[in-house]
Amino acid sequence: MNLMFLGAPGAGKGTQAEVISDHYRIPSISTGVLLREAKERGTELGLRAKTYMEAGQLVPDEIVVGMLKERLSAPDCANGFILDGFPRTVPQAEVLDKMGVSMDLVISIEVRDEAIVERMSGRSLCASCGASYHTKFKPSAKPGVCDRCGGELKVRADDKPEVVQSRLTVYHEQTEPLKDFYEKKGKLFLVNGEGAIEDITAAITEAIDKVKG
Ligand code: AP5
Repeated sequence: MNLMFLGAPGAGKGTQAEVISDHYRIPSISTGVLLREAKERGTELGLRAKTYMEAGQLVPDEIVVGMLKERLSAPDCANGFILDGFPRTVPQAEVLDKMGVSMDLVISIEVRDEAIVERMSGRSLCASCGASYHTKFKPSAKPGVCDRCGGELKVRADDKPEVVQSRLTVYHEQTEPLKDFYEKKGKLFLVNGEGAIEDITAAITEAIDKVKG
């Protein structure tokens, strides 16, 4: 079962991917997480990516595509995976096609830009496992500590309001055309991303179970 999450920055891709990954026991692969890990480790690619990420721009394909290919070749991807944040452009989707990687379902989480700005202002992420929290909508049991692994919660450098605005512009111009790309392949499922996290998960699992048969 190969799944993909599309959606604006902060639409809830990571939040839903985490639950769906546990439910179907397939790994969730986020290019944003891979890039942030490379940045934290101070690798050459990570440091090159940092400038683009902190400006809310897409990181060049020569950096992202290699990281994704390496991750997809790991043994835990053999029975399927969830892509979160890749592809971001039609050329990146064509890379997947050329690799012979096809999707069973592409889930686009639909959230209005106004709601995105509110979500980003309260978000924190676990520095160890990448789990996502929100001060109002999804607080951790103990402030500043991850419920899953006990890691430290941090605010992302690209969640500043002006950077969020550029990320939204990039999303509408470069990523949203992917909905059309996957609609034409008959793989697209749109889900309303505004509402309780559990209700959105229920709508997504129902769609996945229909495809699984
Ligand atoms: P990436 O890390 O992928 O960020 P993003 O796509 O902008 O998405 P986010 O992680 O910000 O949001 P999300 O949709 O996962 O939302 P979340 O679940 O956290 O990419 C970062 C950067 O890396 C990019 O800008 C780019 O520079 C680079 N990059 C990555 N991939 C790339 C690629 N393929 N090519 C080139 N460059 C690439 O939820 C957000 C908040 O809302 C959380 O606090 C959460 O708790 C809360 N929340 C979730 N659901 C709900 C709900 N239903 N109601 C209320 N609150 C909710």
